[in-house]
Amino acid sequence: MKSDSLPNPQKTFHVKSFGCQMNVYDGERMAEMLGAEGYVAAADGADADLVVLNTCHIREKAAEKVYSDIGRLKRADGSTPTIAVAGCVAQAEGAEIARRAPSVDVVVGPQAYHRLPGLIARAERGEKAVDLDMPLESKFGALPKRSGNQRPTAFLTVQEGCDKFCTYCVVPYTRGAEISRPFADLIAEARALVAGGVREITLLGQNVNAWDGEDEQGRAIGLDGLIRELAKEDGLERIRYTTSHPNDMTDGLIAAHGEIEKLMPFLHLPVQAGSDRILAAMNRSHSVDSYLRVIERVREARPDIAISGDFIVGFPGETEEDFDKTMKLIEDVGFDTSFSFIYSRRPGTPAASMEDQVEEAVMNDRLQRLQALLNEQQQGFNEATVGRATRLLLERKGKHDGQLIGKSPWLQSVHVTAPGLAIGDMVDVRVTSAGPNSLGAELLMEAVA
Ligand code: SAH
Ligand code: SF4
Ligand code: F3S
Repeated sequence: MKSDSLPNPQKTFHVKSFGCQMNVYDGERMAEMLGAEGYVAAADGADADLVVLNTCHIREKAAEKVYSDIGRLKRADGSTPTIAVAGCVAQAEGAEIARRAPSVDVVVGPQAYHRLPGLIARAERGEKAVDLDMPLESKFGALPKRSGNQRPTAFLTVQEGCDKFCTYCVVPYTRGAEISRPFADLIAEARALVAGGVREITLLGQNVNAWDGEDEQGRAIGLDGLIRELAKEDGLERIRYTTSHPNDMTDGLIAAHGEIEKLMPFLHLPVQAGSDRILAAMNRSHSVDSYLRVIERVREARPDIAISGDFIVGFPGETEEDFDKTMKLIEDVGFDTSFSFIYSRRPGTPAASMEDQVEEAVMNDRLQRLQALLNEQQQGFNEATVGRATRLLLERKGKHDGQLIGKSPWLQSVHVTAPGLAIGDMVDVRVTSAGPNSLGAELLMEAVA
């Protein structure tokens, strides 16, 4: 359906998303919506009529990048496309963005992007259009239905927002309070994706394991109940979820890892630090011990599960002794993959005004030591996969002729030479080699036959 608010239906657009997977999902929904409004996708921002920068505010570097990106959108003749800044920087900085970067026409927050067409129309009339509402009615109902995305894997946002208020983090301010999307909407969206050829769905939320809802019979269910229902869908082969908070790892969800075959053996469970004193100052509301206990129980339920973590080094007040405890926790858990960051002081968060901010050089040194250990663990995990028979979902073409790249159940990228096979196929392989970031494999004979 075309809205009459857009005067020229053949304009081109480009959406560029930064930050987390939820932003990637939002960017896809924006693109689908603009498509439904008659816009045509342009491969590149430079020659599009409309550019949407879907931004991330999590660390200073990510947030500042927006302004250099806006600067680059100038064309040879000095003109600029219509520029919309969406996402978490939009929510955090609001109208200030258009003041700092006058070429910005639209500023729209993560809960209001379903109103983008109307905002663009206002911008085309020469107004600066800013919408940072977090409306009670959810944007999801106003967006066009999913069309399936021609790819074998898809994201599906099931939960948004955060009520945890870790003292370093902007997300509760940029995304708002925790909400769970209704069960029936999620089943419908998953079915549309599967009908469009999707074989793996990753359920998303800032605290995805805080999802709750009611099933068709009106029974209260948690994320494990949703996963159980989704697993019944024919054609859907794999289910993943991210990101989880340790305190929301319910008994049911832990048990689901041992019971639901389609639920992949991978858990991303950020811990941030290994010192209880720092965890308390971060307001994480879990301890080192409670985190270790969750990991232990998940491994009991699913012994081969891969564990992934997030870490922050240099939180205010972090001493060498605190940092050693983080290294100890890493040794104790053994992370199969991970993300680690230097603490970034974010305006408006409680930690930004804490005393004892750690010096840059100290943070850099700690990050290097931390990453050396984490990289070693990741390499060790990848090497331990060599020789294993496993199944891949082929996701994209590799560099060489006949080469395809798929994902293992443990989310590793695996290269395989498989002439005659296509993206979207599932194939049995044996892993033959391991690098730090990817594996090599050969087809199992059965698969060729
Ligand atoms: N909801 C998730 C992840 C949110 S943001 C969770 O609870 O963990 C993703 C990661 O960014 C976080 O896990 C954290 O490691 C990192 N992060 C968030 N704020 C940060 C900051 N101010 N400085 C550095 N890293 C940060
Ligand atoms: Fe940020 Fe903490 Fe919420 Fe994660 S749980 S989004 S780190 S406030
Ligand atoms: Fe960034 Fe917002 Fe995601 S701040 S990490 S895009 S929730």
